Amino acid sequence: MNPTKKTTQNNAPEESALLQSLDRENLPKHVAIIMDGNGRWAAQRHLPRIAGHRSGIQSVRKIITFAREIGIKVLTLYAFSNENWNRPAKEITQLMMLLERYLNKELRTMMKNGIRFRALGQIDRLQNSVSQLIRSVEEKTKNNTNMVLVLALSYGGRTEIMDAMKKVYQDLETEKLSIKDLDEQCFSEYLYTKDIPDPDLMIRTSGEIRVSNFLLWQVAYTELYFTKTLWPDFRERDFLLALRDYQGRERRFGLVSREKQD
Ligand code: IPE
Ligand code: IPE
Ligand code: MG
Repeated sequence: MNPTKKTTQNNAPEESALLQSLDRENLPKHVAIIMDGNGRWAAQRHLPRIAGHRSGIQSVRKIITFAREIGIKVLTLYAFSNENWNRPAKEITQLMMLLERYLNKELRTMMKNGIRFRALGQIDRLQNSVSQLIRSVEEKTKNNTNMVLVLALSYGGRTEIMDAMKKVYQDLETEKLSIKDLDEQCFSEYLYTKDIPDPDLMIRTSGEIRVSNFLLWQVAYTELYFTKTLWPDFRERDFLLALRDYQGRERRFGLVSREKQD
């Protein structure tokens, strides 16, 4: 590394240097993020958990804008898992209120910036006003082409696979599908993500090293990146650090390394 370049305290380059060294030809097409650590961020400040969620929305806004600016085509954010339904009712109500307010407010920005909005998960489990709002934002933004913003809500990877299996079974029974045509490609068409490519990079914040039931089928060959940064503290520079890490990797997909080929 060029020693004259300014560095921050932990010796990693600054945002501008990271941005400059970003290889625009080797960007992940689809980045998925497990936004974790809102509660701990709030606890560190002796604030209620909801303050952490509220602050996390600032990160959501900044990362969406930045991802679009640098040319990421699909950004998926894990916002609420099936398991999160077991949290205290008060936290769930507050989260749903934040979501509603966010979507109402952001629609204009999505239209202005050409962002298409999609929701993944069992959206019908959400309260009526929220699920209707989601469907209407999906509809209004459906012709936008700069970036797809996918929000995983009421989402569980195992449930997604089970839901797909049930639909496959129905189609086999009604002979819409023949067992000889059922391969991985065909099965993918039954998932919530049927028209979304698999993630190239998955980021999890807050230091937890697990996937927590997120995109289980789709992450088969995704590059995983874990950072200790809590989601409300996650900013453009953290995103660039993840991208730099990604660009330093060789994706082999089970093949032999390029350098080791005879
Ligand atoms: C992530 O933050 C947001 C949601 C799961 C909705 P958490 O609420 O899980 O925060 P921690 O993990 O308790 O810090
Ligand atoms: C995963 O975070 C779900 C979301 C970020 C929406 P959790 O905080 O719910 O996951 P665990 O409980 O630490 O595995
Ligand atoms: Mg958590």
